[in-house]
Amino acid sequence: MNFAVFCSGKGTNLQAIIDALKRGEIKANLALVISDQKDAYCLVRAKTAGVETVFIDPQKFSARENFDKEVIRHLERKTIELICLAGFMRIISPYLVQRYKNRILNIHPALLPSFKGTKGVKEALEYGVKITGPTVHFVDEKMDHGPIVLQAAVEVRDDDTEETLAQRIHAQEYIIYPQAVKLFVEGKLKIEGRKVKII
Ligand code: GRF
Repeated sequence: MNFAVFCSGKGTNLQAIIDALKRGEIKANLALVISDQKDAYCLVRAKTAGVETVFIDPQKFSARENFDKEVIRHLERKTIELICLAGFMRIISPYLVQRYKNRILNIHPALLPSFKGTKGVKEALEYGVKITGPTVHFVDEKMDHGPIVLQAAVEVRDDDTEETLAQRIHAQEYIIYPQAVKLFVEGKLKIEGRKVKII
């Protein structure tokens, strides 16, 4: 199975997936890494691993859907069957979601449905929760909303800063995201309404 990772930043989750591929844990082919940021470090990581990279400049597209049509052109070119969003800082259009229905995963740094959006770590810390952690979920038309695949619990310490807490959440992301990709690739994820069963 060919799959793609979309990212905009450092790409540490991308790296965790690359490492799991190298260890032979995920039996699939990472055929494409797409970024909306020209100089993002994730592109360096992909190139180092010998993975084809594509930068798509959002400024060249007036509407979100047109950007996504260009994305789809590349996905079809590489016969991509699974998309993993890993720190991709753009909202996916309903057009792309429909086209790859139940074939898009995302990682979020909070226990959904709490603390959606881009400040999931900071807001959980400020709210005073005692437990937080990352969520891998399928992507649907609503932001940070689709059926949940895996979550991991991270205890919040009294002396945590956003940085220290984020560090421990990320450590869990690097475990559960490759695991979720592996389960998907092996056909072990069954979506029933909001629930994802591991079969
Ligand atoms: C992660 O914290 C992830 O939960 C969120 O974006 C961040 C991506 O970091 N969606 P990286 O680019 O994988 O290092």
